Amino acid sequence: MSVPSSSSWFLFTSLLVFFLFMMDSDSFCLAKPTNTTRQNRQLSVDYYAKSCPQVEQLVGSVTSQQFKVSPVSGPATIRLFFHDCFIEGCDGSIFIASKPGSKVLAEKDAEDNKDLRMEGFEGIRKAKALVEGKCPGVVSCADILAIAARDYVHLAGGPYYQVKKGRWDGKISMASRVGSNIPRANSTVDQLIKLFNSKGLTVEDLVVLSGAHTIGFAHCKQFLTRLYNFRNTNQPDPNIDPRLLKALKMSCPHYGGNLDIVAPFDVTTPFLFDHAYYGNLQNKLGLLASDQDLSLDPRTKNMVQDLAKDKHKFFQAFAVAMEKMGLIDVKRERKHGEKRKDCSMHM
Ligand code: HEM
Repeated sequence: MSVPSSSSWFLFTSLLVFFLFMMDSDSFCLAKPTNTTRQNRQLSVDYYAKSCPQVEQLVGSVTSQQFKVSPVSGPATIRLFFHDCFIEGCDGSIFIASKPGSKVLAEKDAEDNKDLRMEGFEGIRKAKALVEGKCPGVVSCADILAIAARDYVHLAGGPYYQVKKGRWDGKISMASRVGSNIPRANSTVDQLIKLFNSKGLTVEDLVVLSGAHTIGFAHCKQFLTRLYNFRNTNQPDPNIDPRLLKALKMSCPHYGGNLDIVAPFDVTTPFLFDHAYYGNLQNKLGLLASDQDLSLDPRTKNMVQDLAKDKHKFFQAFAVAMEKMGLIDVKRERKHGEKRKDCSMHM
């Protein structure tokens, strides 16, 4: 687990701060309802109205405090929510700790989850402890994560939206289920579309949810081949701005670099949840190949153009898509789920 030390990302921001780009675009539809809307009917905004009416305030007091002392908690938690939902559904299974001595590792210890930042887990642990103190045994870890992710989107400057609640925590958490359910930095657009479709999400949802990369950071290893040996050509990716390439190469040497160094996804406004991500893609300033490809593929590039020119449209679509993502395979009954007191341990 690594935290962007101020020196690592400051190197980037100082080199890249001159990148300020504007963009234009075309038409595109907001996220359409899919099969996840069936579960939609079963969750509700006021699910805890009687059992824990203050749950949102309690979680909010922790998220706002965490955001002040450690702003990376924002991207960390939003990514945590994404990984939780894509593996076994939005059921808090990402928080389960592996049993000491057991050969079967839990989700969070899978290779693809190793870079999930500690700050995300810590914030949810604190929020859960606070909620348990006021409403013991009532609110699921899965719902606390959904609320916290929304809070951080808003705290970072993004849209505020209502969170539907009523998820139960899942009983299964296995590292072996992670690899095939999480997209990779070098996934093709085809692979991304297939994976998102398998979760009931559309190609529009893919483009819109990828906009979460308007904040946060990635480690050098995630984009190193783009810089030095793109698709075995021994050349950099031709679809990367030469100034960004230079800056990234300075911090991420081909061999022997510091494994903790990270670069911001959004080189123009790395801490602001805005729509700059899409304009950056149009200007070849995407960090991962999977991001950059969205502005090149004929199935997604018009949406990128569209979102780049309209922040309001992005915000609306993002709120809808987050709600859809938050409905993936939710558990709604005791026989499928539990309400854990400690998110890291089964009941
Ligand atoms: C579409 C396919 C996606 C791919 C291939 C992808 C891949 C990645 C990778 C490789 C990282 C960097 C990890 C690291 O080096 O520490 C990352 C970070 C991040 N991802 Fe994604 N991601 C995708 C979609 C999403 C979605 C749908 C969301 C949320 C809705 C999301 C939210 C984030 C955030 C906020 C970060 C920054 C985390 C931090 O700074 O701690 N990503 N992603």
